[in-house]
Amino acid sequence: MGEEVGAGASSSSARVPVVLRAARIGDIDAVLDIECTAFGDPWNRNAFVDLIGDPRVAFLIADARGEVLGYVVAWYVLDEGEIGNLAVHDSARRRGIGARLLDGAIAKVRASDVDVLYLEVRDSNAAARALYASRGFVEVGRRKEYYRRPKEDALVLRLDLGDASAE
Ligand SMILES: CC(C)(COP(=O)(O)OP(=O)(O)OC[C@H]1O[C@@H](n2cnc3c(N)ncnc32)[C@H](O)[C@@H]1OP(=O)(O)O)[C@@H](O)C(=O)NCCC(=O)NCCS
Repeated sequence: MGEEVGAGASSSSARVPVVLRAARIGDIDAVLDIECTAFGDPWNRNAFVDLIGDPRVAFLIADARGEVLGYVVAWYVLDEGEIGNLAVHDSARRRGIGARLLDGAIAKVRASDVDVLYLEVRDSNAAARALYASRGFVEVGRRKEYYRRPKEDALVLRLDLGDASAE
C-alpha cells in the first residue's frame, strides 16, 4: 500500500501515492460524485452512509493525498460474500486503482473466512468484465434485464477463494 501509482482526479499526469483505507463519512460527497458519473442508476447517499462501520462490510477508499479516486464495497455473511460496488474516477482509470480496490476487498473478505465471492456486472461492461476475469471470476449465471437506465442483463460472476488461481 502507498506505492506510487499514476493517479489524480484533478492532475491526471501526476504520480501520487494512493493508499487504500476504510471509508469515512467525510468521503461520501466525493464517492457520490464518482458514483453519479460512473452509473446511470447510482446508489444514493444513504446507501453509502449505512455501510460505514458495519462489521460485515468492506467499504474501501483509494485515497491520493486526501483525494478520493475510487471505492469498493463488499459485504459478507458466513462463508459467502458479494462485491456490491466498485468505481474509479473517470480521470484516474487504467492506472491500476480498480485492481487494487478489488484486491483489497478480496483480501478483506478472505481474512473473514469467506469461501466464495459473487458479483453482478452489466453484460456490456467490457472494462469491469476484463478486470474481474483477471482476478479469476467466472460467469455462473445471467439475470435478465436486471439493470435499469439502460435496461440490460446482469452477468453473475463467482470467485472461489479456495481456488489457488484466485491467489
Ligand atoms: C471498471 C473500473 C472500476 C476499472 O478501474 P480501473 O482503475 O480503470 O482499472 P485498472 O486500471 O485497475 O485495470 C485493471 C485491469 O482491468 C482491465 N480493464 C480496465 N479497464 C479496461 C478497459 N477500459 N478496457 C479493457 N480492459 C480494461 C484490464 O485487464 C486492466 O489491466 P491492464 O491495465 O493491465 O490491461 C472502472 O473502469 C470504472 O470505474 N468503471 C465505471 C464503474 C463500473 O463499471 N464499475 C464496475 C461495476 S460491476
